[in-house]
Amino acid sequence: MFRFENVSQHPLKELNFKIGKNEKVILFGPSGAGKSTLLFLFNRLSDPEEGQIYFKDKPIGEYPITELRKKVGLLLQSPNLFPGTVLDNLKYGPSLFGEWEDKQAKQLLEYVQLPSSYVDREVDQLSGGEQQRVSLARTLANSPEVLLLDEPTSALDNRTAEEIEEVLEYLIHEHQLTMLMVTHNMKQAKRLGDRGIFLMDGAIQEDGKIPDMLDHPETEALSKFLEK
Ligand SMILES: Nc1ncnc2c1ncn2[C@@H]1O[C@H](COP(=O)(O)OP(=O)(O)OP(=O)(O)O)[C@@H](O)[C@H]1O
Ligand SMILES: [Mg+2]
Repeated sequence: MFRFENVSQHPLKELNFKIGKNEKVILFGPSGAGKSTLLFLFNRLSDPEEGQIYFKDKPIGEYPITELRKKVGLLLQSPNLFPGTVLDNLKYGPSLFGEWEDKQAKQLLEYVQLPSSYVDREVDQLSGGEQQRVSLARTLANSPEVLLLDEPTSALDNRTAEEIEEVLEYLIHEHQLTMLMVTHNMKQAKRLGDRGIFLMDGAIQEDGKIPDMLDHPETEALSKFLEK
C-alpha cells in the first residue's frame, strides 16, 4: 500500500520499506528517533528531503492533498478540534467532498462510544478523553483506508486510554484499516500490532512480527531498548 524508496528526512536516513494493506504496524524507539517525523510523511504533513514515497504504486505527491488526507487519516496525542460543536467538527472533512448528511453523526458517536446527544455539545466543554473520542470520530468521518496514530492514548489517564484502545481495536478490525501507530507502551503494541518497526539513530534497526520481535529481539539495540 505504501512503498518508501531511499527516503531521507532529518533524522531519518535512506529508508526503504513497504507497508501492505491491512497491516497493523507499531513504530517505536527512543525519543527523538524520528517516529513522528516518519508518520507525518504518510499524509504529507511533511515531504521528504530526498527519495520517493508511493501510495498504491503512485507517487504520493500526485494525489490531490485533500484526497490523500481523506484516505490517510491522522490522530495525534492531543485532540485536534476547532472551536464549535461536535457536529461542526464531524462534518467538516466529509463536507469538502459533498459527502455529509447529519444522520451520520449518530453512527460516528456510537463508534467512539459517546451518547448521540453529544452532537450539539461545544467541544471545549468536553473532557480530554471525550475530546479524543471526538477527534477519532472526526478522523473516521472521512472513511479512511489508513489510520495514522501518534501516541493516541499517551495523554490520557489509564482507564480512558484503555477504553480508547478498545475502540481503536474494534474499528481497525471492523473497517479492515491499515494502521501505523507510534506508541511507547509495549503492552499496547502487543494488543494492537502485528508488525513492529524499531527506529533508532535515523534507521530501521529491526522490522519483524509482533509479539515475536518483542519477546525475542534479534538486535542488541532492541534488547537494550526493551530492558529499559
Ligand atoms: N521542525 C523541526 N525542525 C528541526 N528539527 C526537528 C523538527 N521536528 C523534529 N525535529 C528533530 O527531529 C528529531 C526527531 O523528532 P521526532 O519528533 O520525529 O521524534 P520522535 O521519535 O517522535 O520522538 P518522541 O518519542 O519524543 O515523540 C528530533 O531530534 C527533533 O529534535
Ligand atoms: Mg513523536
